[in-house]
Amino acid sequence: MKRTLILILLLAACKRPEAAAPVAGDANRGKQLIEQYGCNSCHIVPGVEGAKGMVGPSLEHVASRQIIASKLPNSQPNMTAYILNPQMTNPDNVMPNLGVKPDEARDIVAYLYTLK
Ligand code: HEC
Repeated sequence: MKRTLILILLLAACKRPEAAAPVAGDANRGKQLIEQYGCNSCHIVPGVEGAKGMVGPSLEHVASRQIIASKLPNSQPNMTAYILNPQMTNPDNVMPNLGVKPDEARDIVAYLYTLK
């Protein structure tokens, strides 16, 4: 009995985090919002037409990064919080607070999380 429990716990611990949590939000709407807010004026955003800005880091493979903004563990909630308040990690961050609404940030992150 005890052994079964330990086995279950071990299996649960082996699960990769991205497999455990399905991506929340509407990635298609997120992609439109990225165009609308002009995130690509500062970032290369694969799949988004137009400017390929070089002010900020390229967002290619951003979903596969372990750390974002130099110190935040990469997760959907952290990335969402960061887009809502880019100065949260560094008050001198040149990434502006664009006034993105919480539901919009969630959808933007859903799109960015397709960039593995
Ligand atoms: C004026 C330029 C500018 C605009 C516009 C901009 N960003 Fe940024 N962004 C930056 C800079 C610069 C950084 C790096 C900050 C740092 O690491 O301290 C950054 C960092 C990021 C990061 C973290 C990436 C990583 O790997 O660390 C994400 C995610 C991000 N931006 C998403 C967005 C989204 C989504 C938008 C549009 C809503 C946007 N940015 C608009 C300049 C910009």
